[in-house]
Amino acid sequence: MPRVLSCIQPTGSVHLGNHLGALINWVAGQHEGNVFHGIVDLHALTVLDRPNVIGEQTIELAAMLFAVGLDPDVATVFVQSHIHEHSELSWLMECTVSFGELSRMTQYKDKAAKREGDFVSAGLFTYPALMAADILLYDADEVPVGDDQRQHVEITRDIAQRFNNRFGDTFVVPRAVHPKAGARVMDLQDPTSKMSKSAVSDAGLVYMLDDNATIERKFKRAVTDSDGEVRYDRELKPGVSNLLDILSACTGTPTEQLASRYTQYGPLKKDTGDAVIAVVEPIRTRYHGLMADKGELARLLRIGNDRAREVAAATLARAHRNIGLLPRV
Ligand code: AMP
Ligand code: TRP
Repeated sequence: MPRVLSCIQPTGSVHLGNHLGALINWVAGQHEGNVFHGIVDLHALTVLDRPNVIGEQTIELAAMLFAVGLDPDVATVFVQSHIHEHSELSWLMECTVSFGELSRMTQYKDKAAKREGDFVSAGLFTYPALMAADILLYDADEVPVGDDQRQHVEITRDIAQRFNNRFGDTFVVPRAVHPKAGARVMDLQDPTSKMSKSAVSDAGLVYMLDDNATIERKFKRAVTDSDGEVRYDRELKPGVSNLLDILSACTGTPTEQLASRYTQYGPLKKDTGDAVIAVVEPIRTRYHGLMADKGELARLLRIGNDRAREVAAATLARAHRNIGLLPRV
C-alpha cells in the first residue's frame, strides 16, 4: 500500500465544500493506503498574530476529522507541533533549498503581495521547507494536493533528491497526485464561485456546525435563475446545477436522474437541504460529543501522535546520521 500524506491547516470552520470535496475522500481513502493526516498548526503561524486561537482551532479540527469518520486505528491523525521533528527537519530543509528557489514560489509571491504594507514573516518565505519536512518525515510516496500546492511538492522532490545526492539515500522522493475528484461545491449565493471561507458573506456557505434551521434557510435562499426549468447545466444554470451536485454527493444518485424528478426549484431546494442535514447531523452530534469529552479526544489524538512520532523520529535520525552530525553524547 502506498504511504499517503495529506495535511490541512487549522484555520477557519470546516464547511460543506471541504467535506464533500475532500474529507469524504479522506475517510474512504483510509482503507486504500497507509494514510497520514497532519493538522499543520505551525504552517498557520506564518500569518498569525493573536494569542490563544490556534490551539482551539486545532482541537476543533481534530474533533471534526474524527467526527467525519477518520478512524485513529487506521489513519494516523496527528498535530504537527506535537511532533518536534517537523521543526528540526525543517532547518535541514532550509539548508538544502536555495534562496532563489524559494523566491520563485508563486504562493509566496501572491501572499506577500496581498500583505503589502503588512508584516511579511520570514516563515511565509521558508514555508515550503517546513512543508518538505512534513512530507519527507513520513516517507510519503503520494501527496494528494490541488494545483495551488503542486509547486510545493515539486520543490520537495528537488530538496529530497539534492539531499540524497549530497548525503546518501535518505528520503523517499514523493509524487504529487490528484486527489480523487470529490464534488466541487459552489457558494449558494454566488454559484459561479467555489464555496470558500474567504467569501464576503456567510449566507452562501454551509458550515458543518450550522444547525438544521440555518441549513434549511440557506438552501431555501439559494440563488437559482428565472427560467424555472430543473436541468443540469453548469454553464447556463450554475445555481440549479450546484444544488443537483450537492444532492447527488449526499445521496449517491446521479445528477441527471435527480433532475428528471423535479419540475420546480422549491422542492429541489428543500430536498437538498434535507439531504445535507441527513449527512451533517450525525457528524455534528459526534463532534459535540467529542468536544464535550476532551479526555477521549486527547486519547484519539495520542494514538496518531505516537504513531507519527515513531516514523518521524526514525527519519530525522537517519538524516542526522547521513549528514554526519556528531551523535548526542
Ligand atoms: P481549504 O479550506 O481551502 O484549505 O481546503 C481544504 C480542502 O477542502 C482542500 O482539499 C480543498 O480542495 C477542499 N475544498 C475547499 N473548498 C471546496 C469546495 N467549495 N468544493 C470542493 N472542495 C473544496
Ligand atoms: N500548504 C498546504 C496548504 O496550504 C498545507 C500543507 C502543509 C501540506 N504541509 C503539507 C499539504 C504537506 C500536503 C502535504 O493547503
